[in-house]
Amino acid sequence: MDRDDLAQVLRRLPHLDDPNILQGYLTADDAGVYRIDDSTALVQTVDFFPPVVDDPYYYGAVAAANSLSDVYAMGARPVVAMNVLGFPRKKLDNLTVEKILLGAVDKAREADCPIIGGHTIDAPEPFFGLSVTGLADPAKFIGNNGGKAGNLLVLTKPIGTGALTTAAKAELIGEELLRETIRTMATLNKQASKAMAAAGAFACTDVTGFGLLGHLHEMCSASGVGARINAFSVPLIDPAVIEFISQGITTKLTNFESSKKYAVYDDGVDENMRIALCDPQTSGGLLIALPPDSLGVFEAEMAGYDLRTAVIGSLIESGEAAIKVGKSG
Ligand code: CO
Ligand code: CO
Ligand code: CO
Repeated sequence: MDRDDLAQVLRRLPHLDDPNILQGYLTADDAGVYRIDDSTALVQTVDFFPPVVDDPYYYGAVAAANSLSDVYAMGARPVVAMNVLGFPRKKLDNLTVEKILLGAVDKAREADCPIIGGHTIDAPEPFFGLSVTGLADPAKFIGNNGGKAGNLLVLTKPIGTGALTTAAKAELIGEELLRETIRTMATLNKQASKAMAAAGAFACTDVTGFGLLGHLHEMCSASGVGARINAFSVPLIDPAVIEFISQGITTKLTNFESSKKYAVYDDGVDENMRIALCDPQTSGGLLIALPPDSLGVFEAEMAGYDLRTAVIGSLIESGEAAIKVGKSG
């Protein structure tokens, strides 16, 4: 189901009118937010997917980092999590399952967010992820809908995991690049989340299955603005991303097809680069809308962070949530 179909189905469901629902599903935000009292809001999310890498331990770690990311994207603090696991009992041995869960436990511990339960079913293909409960101040959580024209757009991880994990499945990438891809996906968005909160970010979302442009478009629609980005300022995990895409090694080209409805591409941005900007990400970085004068605070808070972050463009006035993709600032 693509993004537009899903949005249509959700819009047809009964309207939520509980005043304590501070963020529901209508703005396609990363997590739901529910006010408990004036100082506490619950931030709830669940996410799971089939294996993205062969190694069960790293699959568990990446899936956990990805699930936790939706809480970090709201500027919230993850508190507890539950496993959501499906696997073919006849095909997958207990040791493999144990490694998946261990990868998740270690990652959740790094997030100070213990896994306290879960549910497992027999399924034809494996899937794994977490349901995560976080806490936020009801007045301070960061939705995807607060962006303002003039905000800078900051991205906190390089992109390309869709193309690179597809290449890895076909055994086309070397050990070193595979390790770097896994490291990128398994890195928590914890520090980025704290930094954006300290810098007073106006809006945030994390970059996952709809790709950089798809999630930027969600932010623009929810915020009532457009965006301008410089394609060449978007960091790639490795130049091989473009190489693989040029060979047709990528997933979900539908992301690129639907981007044509809202993105205007400059002639200087070739098709491989356009597809890269729509490449579906697993456990991608935070895409943050920051007032320009707080960039210094953000960068200071990110000192020591060892993935590349970049200012990739800015939000602009636009009635149609359109995104201009250029080859310069
Ligand atoms: Co998300
Ligand atoms: Co999600
Ligand atoms: Co958000």
